[in-house]
Amino acid sequence: MGINILGMGSYLPEQVLTNNDFKKFVDTSDEWIKTRTGICSRHMAGWEPTWYMGRQAALKAVEKSGIDPKEIGLVITSTITSDFLTPSIASIIQHEIGAENAAAFDLSAACSGFVYAVDTAKRFMQTDDNLKYVLVIATEALSRFIDYSDRSTCILFGDGSAAAVLEKSDKLYSSFLASDGGGARKLFARNMQQAPEVRIERDFDDGFPEKPMHQLFQDGKEVYKFAVKALPKAFRAAAEKINITTSDIDWFIPHQANIRIIETAAKNLGIGMEKFVVTVDHHGNTSSASIPLALCEAIDKGDIKRGQKIALIGFGAGLTYGSVILEY
Ligand code: COA
Repeated sequence: MGINILGMGSYLPEQVLTNNDFKKFVDTSDEWIKTRTGICSRHMAGWEPTWYMGRQAALKAVEKSGIDPKEIGLVITSTITSDFLTPSIASIIQHEIGAENAAAFDLSAACSGFVYAVDTAKRFMQTDDNLKYVLVIATEALSRFIDYSDRSTCILFGDGSAAAVLEKSDKLYSSFLASDGGGARKLFARNMQQAPEVRIERDFDDGFPEKPMHQLFQDGKEVYKFAVKALPKAFRAAAEKINITTSDIDWFIPHQANIRIIETAAKNLGIGMEKFVVTVDHHGNTSSASIPLALCEAIDKGDIKRGQKIALIGFGAGLTYGSVILEY
């Protein structure tokens, strides 16, 4: 069994920050950021909650699909930047869009989140004959979890959302999901503090470097090394399962973290950059929203056409990685 992407929608907040805007916060330059990352600008959520951005993308995806939201049986939202510990963003959106017959949950797999969510959706559909449509949303506002005094990190990230309505089909499909938790301390943001009323002092070192709560820490060099290996590995593992190679794929849509990571992965896979969808220049790294935002943009531009084979490849905190190969 495979899946069909019935329709997609996306949402980018109005506010745009150029590289030069970061000169207000840190000692940097447009030239350094462009050369080292390929990023020129990124969208930043201002007043928009993360769930609201996801709602806007979801509404567009449902409209493009031409379905009744009541026919959606499951809403999965990928996010690491939720407005709430609970409830899930998926539950909020489920109500907001009138998907009154859907179950709903959030999924946390960082920048691999959309790949994880699509594969989870597929597995749900495979085991539930009554499940007609699954709505997968990736919505992120990394700008709220950034240390704006850390010049090697703050310039990388952007905000945005994208969503896809999926249905069962007999189209080609393969996937590979993986995690290397040994790298958990290389990319993280803390989300816990003990209430002083109940705190018991104890000398405990969890091995995670010091960083204030809700601020992203990353060991850029180590994450870079991981990413350039994980990308080709994830694709090959999914491709081998269905006996295909790079030449069978029309479009590669990798996580948009850094143009140098994408170029190195392309080289490692032995393919030209013309097969890669690149949006990192104007989106920055939008975590799990980056792959569906790039996919949606390429579909809307008419670059990706029905019947073409695409490979979605994610990597991120966890350290997670994975790939989904499907036919559009
Ligand atoms: N502007 C100007 N200079 C900067 C800078 C900035 N925004 N950020 C860092 N620098 C400086 C450093 O301080 C360092 O200066 P020094 O040599 O005087 O110490 C110099 O540039 C080189 O820094 P370095 O960290 O070696 O740069 P790099 O080429 O490794 O690039 C990253 C840094 C973060 C762009 C790169 O490591 C990267 O992309 N890593 C992966 C991050 C990622 O994708 N994370 C998300 C994964 S989902």
